[in-house]
Amino acid sequence: MTSTLFRNARIFTPLQSDRPLAGPEQGRVHVVPRGALLCTNGLIAAVGPEEEVLRKALRGELDLEVDCRGACMIPGFVDPHTHICFAARREREFALRLAGKSYLEILQEGGGILSSVEAVRSASEEELYRFTLKNVLSALRHGTTTMEIKSGYGLSTEAELKMLTVIDRIARETPLDVAATFMGGHAVPREYKDNPEAFVDLLVNEMIPAAARQGIARFCDVFCEQGVFSVTQSRRILQAARTAGFRLRIHADEVHDLGGAGLAAELGTVSAEHLLAANEANLKAMAASGVIADVLPATAYSLKKPYAPVRRMIELGVPVALATDCNPGSSFTESVPFVFGLGVLAMDMTVEEALTATTLNAAWSVEMHHRVGSLEEGKQADFLLLDGESPAILAYHAGVSSVMEVYKKGVRVA
Ligand code: NIG
Ligand code: FE
Repeated sequence: MTSTLFRNARIFTPLQSDRPLAGPEQGRVHVVPRGALLCTNGLIAAVGPEEEVLRKALRGELDLEVDCRGACMIPGFVDPHTHICFAARREREFALRLAGKSYLEILQEGGGILSSVEAVRSASEEELYRFTLKNVLSALRHGTTTMEIKSGYGLSTEAELKMLTVIDRIARETPLDVAATFMGGHAVPREYKDNPEAFVDLLVNEMIPAAARQGIARFCDVFCEQGVFSVTQSRRILQAARTAGFRLRIHADEVHDLGGAGLAAELGTVSAEHLLAANEANLKAMAASGVIADVLPATAYSLKKPYAPVRRMIELGVPVALATDCNPGSSFTESVPFVFGLGVLAMDMTVEEALTATTLNAAWSVEMHHRVGSLEEGKQADFLLLDGESPAILAYHAGVSSVMEVYKKGVRVA
């Protein structure tokens, strides 16, 4: 048994409830001005006011004591939406977008996601792993201790399974907890351009069952968007995935209001992601069926689109999580601090709401809320020390990361 006591910290954490935090609950954060956290075998044995934790610590044996010197301590970030497994950047495409070409135009012309597909298909498993690892370790340095990672740049059975194998290796060979998502329905690959329905057949009849047999992915996601997969096709894909045992998520109403948010509510998916263009009626339906909104402000920033209506979502009682959407096209950032800052300054979230969105609600979004997402007894000792008095520093000190130290299961990892 190893025990470490972290003392003299200003602790800020949302508190676990029986559901993700929504409405006024989203902004309810517990603060301990002079707190301590006792970690035993990677788990939180006690956390709270320093004197109380010390009393408990003195009863057992302590291996190490760390003075946090008044630093702000928050839960490790959970990033619930990434496409961080890719094999090449797309800097030329970024230049095209700056020159006025739209994201969907680039995809329709065979670039965008499809150029990432070419890169992933031609990369060896080892090359893909190394490229991915670099960005994942950077995310860890920015405070991400749990991450969702999607496949979706393979778009053939073989290449999708290769991506999931790499994602599994990231899970086993880095300190992060990883939730793997099968996203064979990310785009229609070139070879099915003239017959997209046949690709949906392939997804339903071959790819989804193969990913289920492989046993790495827990979730299945689909890009429901004009010119990609319609609501009808997305429904078919997600229903097949549910039958195969997957938990569901959906890229909904990212560019056009196609009704993806409504489909999320209808199917009771765990989350609906993006939602830049989602309409009010469908947001209400999401609130009613408890679907979490994974909001990705770095994508709106990079695509120069209006931000998702987060204030309205919170008013309607939709639980909000924030994510990077890290990918080489629409959002090349692995930084949760950046996304946190956009949440507060571009979308008018309170600091407390953004903290819940990047920790506990994000943990619910990947269904790991029993283990991570808040600093409470029995959970993993995954936490960050910030260079500031409160989590507001993440928005206030712009363009840099205020994450000084990163701990996973009580061990310093960055
Ligand atoms: O979430 N919308 C679809 N997928 C990603 C972008 C992927 C890419 O451009 O490579 C997104 O924005
Ligand atoms: Fe995405």
